[in-house]
Amino acid sequence: MKKIIVIHGPNLNLLGVREPEVYGNLTLEEINKKIKELAESLGVIVDFFQSNKEGELIDRIQEASSNYDAIIINPGAYTHTSIALRDAIISVGIPTFEVHLSNIYRRENFRHKSYIADIAIGQVSGFGVNSYLLGLRAAVDYLNK
Ligand code: DQA
Repeated sequence: MKKIIVIHGPNLNLLGVREPEVYGNLTLEEINKKIKELAESLGVIVDFFQSNKEGELIDRIQEASSNYDAIIINPGAYTHTSIALRDAIISVGIPTFEVHLSNIYRRENFRHKSYIADIAIGQVSGFGVNSYLLGLRAAVDYLNK
């Protein structure tokens, strides 16, 4: 069975209480549950990881290289700043799908730049929890081809 790691970046542990008008009311646990349910119906295994620390996210990406077929990542604010995260994804060479709950292109200018977008297979942005679910569908479709 194909294995996918879902990585959540900084502050996403606060979902549900953090700016619900921007990010919705679901907690990270509830989002992960929906992802897991969809993964089961699509016949893939998903694991989850969240960290507020850039280095820990990089470590997890590096470790993924031997264990996972794809990465789904919401890098949070590191999307807009982290060349190190970008380099890690390039280094492991695992197909990566970038997701965002909010539409980063409708927000402040500094959120319009993603260091991940041009090295990802694709990006889903603006559909709340559905961004993750669409990203998962796209990843599974990609791996099955
Ligand atoms: C986010 C968008 C980022 O700009 C922000 O820093 C986040 C969440 C999103 O899912 O919409 O933390 O990645």
